[in-house]
Amino acid sequence: MKFFKVSFLAAVLSLSMAAVASAETEVKIGYALAENSHYGVAAKAWADAVEKATNGKFKFRQFPSSALGGEREVVEGLQLGTVEATIVSTGTLSNFVPAVGVTDIPFLFRDLHHARDVLDGPIGQDLLAQFEPRGLVALAWGEQGFRHITNNKHPINTPADLAGLKLRTMENPVHITAFETLGAAPTPMAWPEVIDALQQGTIDGQENPLSVIVSAKLYEVQKYLTLSGHVYSPAVLLVSKPFYDGLSDEEKEAFRKGAAEGVVAMRAFVDDVEKTGVEQLKEKGMQVNELSVGQKADFQNSLKAAYEQYYQKYDKKLIDDIIATK
Ligand code: PAF
Repeated sequence: MKFFKVSFLAAVLSLSMAAVASAETEVKIGYALAENSHYGVAAKAWADAVEKATNGKFKFRQFPSSALGGEREVVEGLQLGTVEATIVSTGTLSNFVPAVGVTDIPFLFRDLHHARDVLDGPIGQDLLAQFEPRGLVALAWGEQGFRHITNNKHPINTPADLAGLKLRTMENPVHITAFETLGAAPTPMAWPEVIDALQQGTIDGQENPLSVIVSAKLYEVQKYLTLSGHVYSPAVLLVSKPFYDGLSDEEKEAFRKGAAEGVVAMRAFVDDVEKTGVEQLKEKGMQVNELSVGQKADFQNSLKAAYEQYYQKYDKKLIDDIIATK
C-alpha cells in the first residue's frame, strides 16, 4: 500500500513536470549574422530578459547565420506565424513597410547619436507603428552602424572610382538609386549569397557597416575598405503579429522590455566595433582609406539627382525634419 502511494505520487509529479515542460513556449528567432555579431548579442539579451521575466515560460531558440533563410524569407515567416521573432535591417524591411525606406537615404544621419535620437523619438516611433497592419510588431529600433564600401578592385576616393564597379547592394530601392546615381553597377542580392559571390568574383564589392564586415569576416574575401559612412543602417527587433496577439498583457510587456535590453546590448556592440573595427580589419590585411570631409561632400553633391527622387517618394518635410533634429 505504501509502495502504491509513493509510485502514485511519483507518477503525478512526473505528469505535472511534463505539463510544465509542454507549457514552455518556443520562440524561434532567426537572423542573418553569427551569434557573436551585434544581432547575436541583441538576440541573446532579448531572450535572457524574456525568459527571466516570464519564469522560463518562453524559451528562445536561436537560428543565427541565415539558418532560417534570407531576411526576406524570415520576415515572411513572421507574417505567416511560422517564425516568432527576428532582428533585421531596414534595408530589407522597406519591401514590407515602404515608409521605413526613408531611414535608408544616404547622408541623412550625421552620427550615431543623431540616428538614435530620431529613431527613439516621435519620428521613429511613428514608423514602428506602421508595421502592425503588415502582420509584424516592431518592438524597438536597433542598429548596425554606418555602411562603408569594400571591394577587390581599388580604393574608392571619388564617385568616379565607383564607375562600373559591380557592387552588391541590399534589395532596397533607396540604396540601388544611390549607387546607380553614383555610377556604380549595383547588383542587388540577398545576403546569404554574398560571400560566395565575392569569393567567385561575380561581384567586385559590397557595402555594410563595420559590425558586419568584422563579424562576417569579410576581410577573408575583400581587399579594400573605404570608410565612406554613406548611409546609416538601422535594424528593427520584430515579432510575429499572430504570435504577439496571443500573448497576455504582461507577456507583451516582457517582450517589449526584453527588446529594449537587446537594443542596449546591440548599441554597445556597435559603439565598440565603430572604435576598434578598423584596427581589427587592418590587422587582418585590409587596405583602409577614409573619405575626407571634402571627399564626402563630393559624394553628397553627386547624389542630388537621387535626392530629387527621394523627395518624390517620401515626404520632403519628414526628410527635412530628420536632418534638422539636433
Ligand atoms: O547587407 C545586408 O544584407 C544586411 O546589412 C545584413 C548583413 C543581412 C544585416 O542585416
